[in-house]
Amino acid sequence: MFEYYKGSSPPRMKTITVRAPINIAVIKYWGKADEQLIIPCNDSISMTLDSPELNTETTITADPQLDEDEFYLDGHPEITINKRIKKSIETAREFASKIPDNRELVTWKLRIMSKNSVPTASGLASSASGIAALSYALIKLYSLDSFFYLSQLSCIARLGSGSACRSLFGGLVHWHGDFVEEVGHWEELNGFVVVFNKERKKISSTTGMQATVKTSSLFQKRIDSVVPERIIQMLEAIKQQDFQVFAEIAMKDSNSFHACCLDTFPPILYLTPESMEIISAVHEYNNKLGRTAVGYTFDAGPNAVIFGLGTDTETFLNQLKLSNINVIPWKLGRGPTKII
Ligand code: PMV
Repeated sequence: MFEYYKGSSPPRMKTITVRAPINIAVIKYWGKADEQLIIPCNDSISMTLDSPELNTETTITADPQLDEDEFYLDGHPEITINKRIKKSIETAREFASKIPDNRELVTWKLRIMSKNSVPTASGLASSASGIAALSYALIKLYSLDSFFYLSQLSCIARLGSGSACRSLFGGLVHWHGDFVEEVGHWEELNGFVVVFNKERKKISSTTGMQATVKTSSLFQKRIDSVVPERIIQMLEAIKQQDFQVFAEIAMKDSNSFHACCLDTFPPILYLTPESMEIISAVHEYNNKLGRTAVGYTFDAGPNAVIFGLGTDTETFLNQLKLSNINVIPWKLGRGPTKII
């Protein structure tokens, strides 16, 4: 039964609150094969991160009194709802209208209140947690998960922001074409994010990837052979819980993605000298230990995501001597949750 009857007499409203995490790819998505359906040029694999500082909380109220959908980000009303958010809402309503019990609810306009604990658009995947939280709240609002598989519903998030579809799942997540699934959980996997820069990135991922697809010759090799081979090896490493292989592929793939950015014309440079210092520190540390204890990966920004098993990441962090730099610890997470 639906829960939207508040008080004794209709008309009513229905409110849902959810929290969704960010995810960080260890094999990166970069480039769309289909711009409308947001089908990626290559598969990607991500880790869903669990940290109170790396998620989005979203409350949706469906209210028959509203004339238009409304969207508030961190308490501020957005005058026009952005295209991605509209796309997710539209897609969820399409699913919802297939369920007879939703006939009335689906006609009610929505007030959406979204609160990011992740700095917005800083290359820390805030769009992934933001759109995933919106999508999960819509899924719960219309009880879509009682009628459809989550992988079918993942298009609600994907059409809003590609990588957001991976944040609907916990653990390690594989996105291929129009399909997403969890491919394993690794209890001991954890890490931290080194936040060098909280500012908005200068080139958005959408613009950046379009330019790379158009101009980089390195990118063609990446999607034709480099990533397909890595996906097979990475899935096997996850199955065997082989951290050495997992970390090595993740580091190589982050470097390959940034090399393609640099090979874009005009070039895109997301990494900074500080990012490069962390990369060197990881390799020096691993060399000193004689094993791959920690790995790194960087999205479309300078901030490093460091990962490892058990206490290795903390030991590495302690000898880094970062002063005045914000470090956010995380462990492998379990995906979105409904709070209310
Ligand atoms: O989902 P978008 O359009 O924000 O693109 C995400 C691109 C990367 O974060 C760089 C890589 C990835 O797979 O998340």
